Order: sequence, then C-alpha cells, then structure tokens
Amino acid sequence: MSTEPTTIRWEQDDTGVVTLVLDDPDQSANTMNQAFRDSLAAVTDRLEAEKDSIRGVIVTSAKKTFFAGGDLRDLIRVTPETAQDLFDGGMAIKRNLRRIETLGKPVVAALNGAALGGGYEIALACHHRVALDAPGSKIGCPEVTLGLLPGGGGVVRTVRMLGITDALLKVLLQGTQYNPRRAQENGLVDEVADSREDMLAKARAFIDAHPESAQPWDRPGYRIPGGTPSHPKFAANLPAFPANLRKQTNGAPYPAPRNIMAAAVEGSQVDFETAQVIEARYFVELAAGQTSKNMIQAFFFDLQAVNSGANRPKGVEPGKVAKVAVLGAGMMGAGIAYSCARAGIDVVLKDVSLESALKGKAYSEKLCAKAVAKGRTSQEKAAALLARITPTAEAADLAGCDAVIEAVFEDTSLKHKVFQEIEHVVAPDALLCSNTSTLPITALAEGVERQGDFIGLHFFSPVDRMPLVEIIKGERTGDEALARAFDLVRQIGKTPIVVNDSRGFFTSRVIGHFINEGVAMVGEGIEPASVEQAAAQAGYPAKVLSLMDELTLTLPRKIREETKRAVEEAGGTWAAHPAEALIDRMVDEFGRPGRSGGAGFYEYGEDGRRAGLWPGLREHFTKPGYEIPFADMQERMLFSEALDTVRLLEEGVLTSVADANIGSIFGIGFPGWTGGVLQYINGYDGGVPGFVARARELADRYGERFTPPALLVEKADNGEVFTDGR
Ligand code: NAI
Repeated sequence: MSTEPTTIRWEQDDTGVVTLVLDDPDQSANTMNQAFRDSLAAVTDRLEAEKDSIRGVIVTSAKKTFFAGGDLRDLIRVTPETAQDLFDGGMAIKRNLRRIETLGKPVVAALNGAALGGGYEIALACHHRVALDAPGSKIGCPEVTLGLLPGGGGVVRTVRMLGITDALLKVLLQGTQYNPRRAQENGLVDEVADSREDMLAKARAFIDAHPESAQPWDRPGYRIPGGTPSHPKFAANLPAFPANLRKQTNGAPYPAPRNIMAAAVEGSQVDFETAQVIEARYFVELAAGQTSKNMIQAFFFDLQAVNSGANRPKGVEPGKVAKVAVLGAGMMGAGIAYSCARAGIDVVLKDVSLESALKGKAYSEKLCAKAVAKGRTSQEKAAALLARITPTAEAADLAGCDAVIEAVFEDTSLKHKVFQEIEHVVAPDALLCSNTSTLPITALAEGVERQGDFIGLHFFSPVDRMPLVEIIKGERTGDEALARAFDLVRQIGKTPIVVNDSRGFFTSRVIGHFINEGVAMVGEGIEPASVEQAAAQAGYPAKVLSLMDELTLTLPRKIREETKRAVEEAGGTWAAHPAEALIDRMVDEFGRPGRSGGAGFYEYGEDGRRAGLWPGLREHFTKPGYEIPFADMQERMLFSEALDTVRLLEEGVLTSVADANIGSIFGIGFPGWTGGVLQYINGYDGGVPGFVARARELADRYGERFTPPALLVEKADNGEVFTDGR
C-alpha cells in the first residue's frame, strides 16, 4: 500500500513492516525543507494512529544519498529577527523524531548512502543503524566545519549513546566524516551491509528480534556512559575541556566548538526534553551569528562554485591527461609528481641528473611507505603509484607527454631554457605549465613557440597536502589551455582558482602583505611574542614571524627588488614598506636569513627545530612599554590582506569573489572563520561601510597603506557587498 507521493513515501508490507522512503520529488537530494517537515509531521501522526497494525519501521531513501541535512540556503539567511522561527521549526522536527523514537515499535535506519548532519540525526533517533558500504558513503556530524552544531538532536543523542567525551571527540568537535566501516568501529552505526538487500534483511532481522524496542536512554536505570559532570569521577576531567577547546581554536573566534561543548555538558545534566531545548538554543545562536554565514558561504557555496567550473571557459570538451612531464625534481617537483601519480597519471620526472631525479622520486616512496604503515593505502596500490613515476635526466624520455609542469629554480632564463629543450619532444599539442610562484606568465611564455598553450599552475607546499592550485592566465593563454589546466587540477583532486597574470598573482602578493605587516610591528617596537600571539588568535594557521622564517627572509627581498625594478621601469614610484628596513638588517647586519640558514626571527637547534624567538629582536627593536591595542595588531594583518585583494579586483587580476575567498583560505591560510578575504569585508561589524571606517582609522594610526581603495568605498556608498551574483 502506498499513500500520495510526498517527500516521505509510506510503503507497508503484509507482515506489518512500514518502510518510510525519503524521496523528495523536487530535488536530487533530501533536505530538511518545509516539504520534509510537513511530511514528517503527517507520517508521525499516521504511525501513531495505525500503531496497532505496525510491527516495525525501516527508514531509508530512494536517492543516492540517505539525507543531505539542513537546507543551507535557508540557514544562511537566518537573522536575529527570524531566529525564533528557526527555533520553532527545529523543535517541531525534534518533537516528531521523538514521537517516532518512543512509539514502542522498533525503528531501524537503513543508510543506503551518505548520512551527514541532519541525515545522521534522523538515524540517531532510530533504535538501530545499518549502513550500506557504498562507495563515497560518509557518516557523521560535520556541522562544526560550517560554524554550526547538530541541532536536530545530534548533540543530545550522541552524548547519550557514546558518553560526553567520545561524543565530543569522535563526532561533534572535529566533524569527522567516517566511511561505514570506520563509523561502525567508532560506535556511530551498529551494522554494515554489503548490498541493499543485505541492508534491508538486517533491518528486518532487528525488527523480528526486538518487537518492543526503546532507546537505552528511555529505559529504567539508564546512565550516560562515562558519567556526567555531577559525578566526582567525571568532574576531575572537566578542567581539561576548556584547554582542549583552546587547543582546537587557538583562541580564534570560532563560536561553534564552544557552543557544542556547552550543549553537550549542560544537556547531560538534565532530562532528555530539556536537553533538546538547550541544544536548540545553542544552535540558533550559531545560525543567527556571522561566523556560520561566513563559513557556509566559503566552505559550501564558494567551494562548490569554484570546483564546479564557474570560471572554466565554456564549450571546451572536458579533457584528461594520461602522461605528464614534471621538470625539476626538487621540493615542488617531487610533490607534484606524487600528486599526479596518486591520481593515476603516468609521470616522467626530469632533473639535471638521474641522481637528482631519483631523489625526487624517493619523496613519493617515503609518502607511500607512511600511507601503508598508517593503513591509508595497500601495498599493491602504493607499488602501482610508484611504478607510474619514471625518473630521468634525458629529454627524449618525455616523448608522448600530453602536459608539462615545470618546477625548476625561480629564474626566467632557466625556465626559458628548459622549455626549449623539451617543447618539440613532448606531444605536439601538450599543455605547457609553469609552477612559478612569482614570475609573470606572459614573459615566461615568450620562451616557447606555442604561447597560447602556456599557462601558470601554481601549487602550494607541501603539495600532497595543500588543496589549492592557482591557475594563472597569461596575456596570450588560450581558452582551451585554461580549460585543460582546470581539468588537470580537478583530475588530481585539487581545487583550482583562476587569476589573470601579474607579479605574484593573487596568493603570493597578498600573503606578502600579511608577513610585512607582522614584521613592521616588530620594527615599531612591539614585543615579537605579542605579534605571534596576535596572528594565532586572529586564526592564522602559522604565526607570522615563523612563517617568514620558513619562506626565508632573502626570498621576499629578491622579489621586492625585482618588483621595484619593474615598477620603476614602468615609470612608477616604489612605495617602501616599513618592514623592509628590518628585513634588511636581519639579513645584512645580523646574518639571520631564516630557517634554512639556521637563524631567523627564531633560533634553531642542531636538529633544525625551532628553539624560541631570537632574544636579539627584543634587544634591537622592542621599545619597552610600547603597546598598541591587540585588536589593532590582529586587524592590521587581516586588513592588509583584504585591502590588497580589493586592489587586485580593481586591477582585474582577480575576477571572481569565490576564487578570492577560497584561494585565501586554502592557499595562504587566511582564517577560515572569516569565510575568506572578501567575505571578511562583507561580514565585518557594520558591513562594508564599517570596514571602510575601520580601514580609515588604521590608515590614520599606522600609515597610508590602509587607505581604502576606490572600489571598496564605492561598494560601501552603494550599499553593496562583494559577490559573484550567483
Ligand atoms: P628546488 O630548489 O627544491 O628544486 C628545483 C629543482 O630544479 C632542483 O632539483 C634542480 O636540480 C632542478 N633543476 C634545475 N635546473 C634544471 C634543469 N635544467 N632541468 C631540470 N631540472 C632542473 O625548488 P622548489 O622549491 O621546488 O621550487 C621550484 C619552483 O616552484 C620555483 O619556480 C618556485 O618559485 C616554485 N614554487 C615554490 C614553492 C615553495 O614553497 N618552495 C611554492 C610554489 C611554487
């Protein structure tokens, strides 16, 4: 028997088992939209009314995924004014799930595909969870990664199922997405099935064996596993919680972990219904706040736009690379070779000698051995990956390569030379890419005959872990080359942003402002340890002076000299940055060129490990008692990057807001809570006008470099925000 088609289909067999099939007729995935809410209410009423003729319930879905969770389009629009509606709507869903959970009949979740967030919360309200081991199937509560918490009973039930500590560490605070087997090992699901039939058979077997099922927490004498804060044993662990929280957020403004922890701990000390209300309050507070909007914008909408090819030229057939030539087997070349081979591409890795090329391949051997040891891959897969990399010193071995990625030293004439050597050896239409981090692509392209096929492909270090690739279009780069470069980046599983040519492009130029600002503050006389602390608490993954040491102090100097020469040759005047004098003294007077030279802003031990800030910094630069507001320190770094990003939009180097946001977070460590470098401006206190006012204040206090560019002022005056208008 079947009722009218709604979002939840009712299918009842003659043994009294009702299968609720989640199947939104209007969308490719099920979400917690109004239609779902209405259907859930109707289905719950019917289950209660027809309870006597029902033996058990199976909840499954007719889509590829089980259930996709909350509708982020709705959530991003929640304001403090509409927060009450969100609260009421959430409580209605929770009440209905609770009614199903306490029906007195066994209810089994048959997870046919991904059950993340809201999907897993539906499963939690069931008495038993069977997950189909389907490829790509993920289970968990990733809300924290969008600045939210599971507000559909996920906090309340994981705490009661796993205990506070495991719920927090395994499910709620990291937002880990488990495959079905790992989900079972960690207690998130009860059984794993190999086929859809097997899954449904297991669900039925549970119903047969448990005719009057109830949740553990609804049984007499139930206690939360591991105890609650009101027990002395647990109370002893409680002080560790805030410490863990600080460790996770580094003091940066991420409100979700704090709310999750509060909802879990407070909710554990009250009855189930009260805990649901507590959870809803903490959820609504996050949803109405700015951080979740920033994070949803970046990690969902912008990321989707970028990866789906909003910037890929239309009309070029999708392409695949079969064999790639990597020129230069140093740090970057070795990492690029590994990433390509991991994606199934054959790699010819060329360096000046076979020995150097073998050294580059050894990097892949090391990564493979580690992955095998950690159980992330099998021996066979690792061996196959390594077999795809052919080290060589002979240009002739590059015959047949359909793409080239050059990663030799950062030197224009050397790059011209290596391309000349191989241009006629590789396939006649091979894509020609350079991994330069700063050199203008248009000038590099002059070293090849097919300039239309030449493009910048800027990877980040360490290549195997960094998710971003910045694609740089030279003046003569053709659309076809751009589309092929885009496809290649996607083929190796990375996220491509697209920018136009310029010295330093987007990422290298903008990160330079962050570093210069940190160094300038040390030069003004601020305690270096405070500068590092300000960067960490602003949410930067690397402290500013330690990052400078990693990059070396000599590299920005070289880039600065080249840029200065280029600016002056073009008839412009070079505006010196206050950081420059300090960097020069560090290198010339104190002989401290950075980590690779064994001394920089930090001292380094014999083993190369950082051993504290160099005391000479305080001696030579710090003015005792000189301080500026901590907020100014943080915002000088954040604003310097945001303001230059706006200038890059003005200059036409950047053409997409999503690319700027994603590139800044994934490539150069702009703090994730901001939603990226332009979303930071949109979401600033007081919006774009608030940001402009604050920039002017910083300009008055710290220098003209903070003066808001015309485009920014124009946006503020017109009441606009930075958006791609999608
Ligand atoms: P590296 O010094 O580690 O490696 C350069 C390699 O090129 C060496 O193995 C060298 O033997 C080889 N090489 C030199 N001449 C050659 C030739 N004629 N034929 C073949 N190989 C030759 O340098 P790294 O750090 O890997 O940088 C390479 C390129 O990547 C540079 O253009 C750099 O600006 C860029 N880049 C570097 C990043 C970084 O974090 N280090 C990030 C992004 C780009």
